[in-house]
Amino acid sequence: MKMIPKTLEDIASYIVKDGKGILAADESTGTIEKRFKSIDVESTEDNRRKYREMLFRSPAMAEAIGGVILFDETLRQKAQDGSYLRDVILNHGSLPGIKVDQGVKELEDNSNEKITTGLDGLNERCREYDELGAKFTKWRAVINISDGMPSTKCINENMLALSKYALIAQENNMVPIVEPEVIMDGPHTIDQCYDVTKNTLSVLFEMLDKKNINIKGTLLKPNMVVSGTENSHQANYKEVAEKTLDCLNSSVPDELPGIVFLSGGQSDVDATAHLDEMNKIGGFKWKLSFSYGRALQQAALKAWSGNDSNLEHAQKAFSHRAIMNMKASLGEWSESLES
Ligand code: G3H
Repeated sequence: MKMIPKTLEDIASYIVKDGKGILAADESTGTIEKRFKSIDVESTEDNRRKYREMLFRSPAMAEAIGGVILFDETLRQKAQDGSYLRDVILNHGSLPGIKVDQGVKELEDNSNEKITTGLDGLNERCREYDELGAKFTKWRAVINISDGMPSTKCINENMLALSKYALIAQENNMVPIVEPEVIMDGPHTIDQCYDVTKNTLSVLFEMLDKKNINIKGTLLKPNMVVSGTENSHQANYKEVAEKTLDCLNSSVPDELPGIVFLSGGQSDVDATAHLDEMNKIGGFKWKLSFSYGRALQQAALKAWSGNDSNLEHAQKAFSHRAIMNMKASLGEWSESLES
């Protein structure tokens, strides 16, 4: 097993070192069932193990993936050879992490807004996750843009919950990944996404500061600033990159070691191209990398399709996306590398 970083600062920097990023494989039982349904595969415990083990044993893991976010089941699950999946990850020099929020509920009765749950018992759960070897954690808040949304209450309560979570994670020796996701679905403009994202991030960092969170031992997982999926003007790569950087520069402290974007429904190549464009522009202190779920897994999931004889083919598909995103984190990607 490789040398494992110990302090919060070292863990956070290790995950995003040399163009590495995060594989988000923390789909809840309901979400992975949906993903498997799309390839007509039943979501049994063994199929989930088989699929995730295929990803974790892919050739690109050691080169491109600094951390993997897991769901509770996977942190405890064994690989086919009887070793723990978390050790398979560690053996590639990658760190296992854990999603600790417990999903969303309505912010208020009959409200379309959401608040993330999971603070009850979080300290005890984190203590156990630390003992099981998780080095970092993730909590996702969901912010929708629509008429009158997001409300101030939605932003304040979600960012407060993120700051409470971050404190508990750090008290249990694990790096918090704070994920305030402004959802891209809807007819809103890119400028509306910019305003909401900027406001959300500003409130988040104020709250983290109030709780004395160690920013050097924290990672931010934000959305990019993009046009709403149903808006008639879809911003190009350059516009997305410039607006996202402008937004981050105005609200994120320099001492944060890394920003690891979510893909949020962007196509595989769009998520890579946007990240690359930002790193080509440069001029910021943090590492700018990825923590993709769908944009890293889509091609591999399809290539696998539940068939054992496709495992190697699926690993190649995953490795290709992981390497493309590593290159994008270094500003060294180009479309010609895709073929
Ligand atoms: O919380 C969201 C996931 O970890 C990232 O998933 O890249 O498919 O948006 P995504």
